Amino acid sequence: MATHLIELSPDDMKRRLGDALAIYVDAMRYPRGTEDQRASMWLEHARRAGWKAVAAIEAGSAADASSIDAPMLGIAYGYCGAPDQWWQQQVSGGLRRIGADAQHISNLMSSYFELTELHIHPRAQGRGLGEALIRRLLDDRSERNVLLSTPEVNGEANRAWRLYRRLGFTDVIRDYHFAGDPRAFAILGRGLPL
Ligand SMILES: CC(C)(COP(=O)(O)OP(=O)(O)OC[C@H]1O[C@@H](n2cnc3c(N)ncnc32)[C@H](O)[C@@H]1OP(=O)(O)O)[C@@H](O)C(=O)NCCC(=O)NCCS
Repeated sequence: MATHLIELSPDDMKRRLGDALAIYVDAMRYPRGTEDQRASMWLEHARRAGWKAVAAIEAGSAADASSIDAPMLGIAYGYCGAPDQWWQQQVSGGLRRIGADAQHISNLMSSYFELTELHIHPRAQGRGLGEALIRRLLDDRSERNVLLSTPEVNGEANRAWRLYRRLGFTDVIRDYHFAGDPRAFAILGRGLPL
């Protein structure tokens, strides 16, 4: 069996939402049931402008990879940031609070791809699939920047942090608290193309 990267349409995402959310919950070690809360949000995201999703699928051939039965090993998606989005409002507000000037905020936030989700099933982590998914997700973007948020971790000591640093992501905001979430996040970003 080989691993194939395939682009998902919004309909594909709808059909394979259960698999994608199961990877998300296992990868993030969230409690079972979290996927039920996220399902409608992931489907709403799939309707946003510039949405793109890529999945890593285990299959004997590229043709088999589009079968609904082929096991999914990883999922990544994102979309074009826009002023009416909660995430952009949160990050712009955070930048203002740390004293970023209006020009800097505008340069960063007026044209970016939000890398919203990136997850590899625990049994498939550590063999370069996460990097392959990001590269495929970003390979044809027209935005100026890519931005993401990731939980703060002591010493940046996990695979997500190592991956983002290796790909040249730098700090946009550190120790950021999104409204209603007690966890600290880092907002990271870099210019495109990768
Ligand atoms: C973060 C995450 C997406 C990274 O994906 P990944 O596939 O595990 O990791 P990468 O693509 O960066 O691959 C790096 C590892 O693969 C190895 N690797 C790279 N290319 C390889 C190849 N061609 N063949 C084999 N191994 C390879 C590297 O040596 C490295 O191993 P190491 O971390 O043990 O040193 C994934 O680990 C994950 O889902 N984690 C949990 C959820 C999460 O944190 N998501 C991000 C939230 S913001």
